[in-house]
Amino acid sequence: MSSAPAAPWTTLPNGTTIPQIGFGTLAVQPSRDASDENADITGEIVRAALKAGYRHLDSAQSYGTERGVGKAIAESGIPRDELYVASKLANPNHAPDDVRRSFDQTLEHLGLDRLDLFLIHWPLPTMHDGDYVSTWKAVAALVDGGRLRSAGVSNFLPEHLDTIIDETGLVPVVNQFELHPYFANKPTTEACAKYGIAVEAHSPLGHNREPLTDPTITEIAESLGRSTAQVILRWHVQRGDVSIPKSSRPERMVENLSVFDFELDQAQMDAINALDRGEDGRVGPHPNTWEG
Ligand SMILES: NC(=O)c1ccc[n+]([C@@H]2O[C@H](COP(=O)([O-])OP(=O)(O)OC[C@H]3O[C@@H](n4cnc5c(N)ncnc54)[C@H](OP(=O)(O)O)[C@@H]3O)[C@@H](O)[C@H]2O)c1
Repeated sequence: MSSAPAAPWTTLPNGTTIPQIGFGTLAVQPSRDASDENADITGEIVRAALKAGYRHLDSAQSYGTERGVGKAIAESGIPRDELYVASKLANPNHAPDDVRRSFDQTLEHLGLDRLDLFLIHWPLPTMHDGDYVSTWKAVAALVDGGRLRSAGVSNFLPEHLDTIIDETGLVPVVNQFELHPYFANKPTTEACAKYGIAVEAHSPLGHNREPLTDPTITEIAESLGRSTAQVILRWHVQRGDVSIPKSSRPERMVENLSVFDFELDQAQMDAINALDRGEDGRVGPHPNTWEG
């Protein structure tokens, strides 16, 4: 299998660095169980991703992929400092004691003594008495313990960011949220810019792959001799997003990382920006109602 040059590392607001394209591990397994069988499946896929050149791995307690990611890391022989490993707090674990307990378990599953990035997966304003502020305090405090480099959030809307920052004074380093050409998620992107929070695009290809067959993107891709996935991921790079495309196929892993040797001109960027459908472009759950 071929590989791609590694993605450049970009600097986050707290001065730490992160590879601008990472590897997403949602649904690389047939189920979310953290079973031995699933760890073998994910281990093999993540091993392929590391061979393809990825150095940033995005996992989550709820994906059940932490054990497989840990297995692939252990078998890779890649020095820890050359890897960037992220995970997310599962929805049932919002109580501060559960944050600390489950963070220990995350490190154990990954076989690591330090995590690069830990995010609150969803704000859950309709669960846990709507108290995601205590959760945020507990996640942010993990950095003081020395076993976490950067604390952040995921799927936080502007009002959720306002709440945690107003009430704690602690600004997340990263907000990971749905963002792709059909859903530029402007209010959240603008709130991140206001607070100096790095934008990390999840479902960067659109999750359901609809943007991958968009006529405008197809025309740009054909004119550049690139794939539509590469054009979309290049659009993210030029916006300054960190992105984490998922593919279980080794050839697509390489394709998705091979976007640092061409550029979109302003007219091409503008044409893709014009595809934004606002809230209608959202594919995943809404952060104000999701309890899954
Ligand atoms: N924080 C959150 O709540 C949240 C939510 C969703 C996702 N995420 C993170 O973001 C990552 C990526 O998001 P996602 O998995 O939802 O969607 P995505 O990366 O936008 O799209 C993945 C889909 O595109 C296909 N694909 C990938 N590369 C392709 C290519 N070059 N050509 C054609 N098809 C291609 C994949 O199929 P194949 O595998 O068959 O190639 C898969 O069906 C996840 O894995 C996860 O780490 C986080």
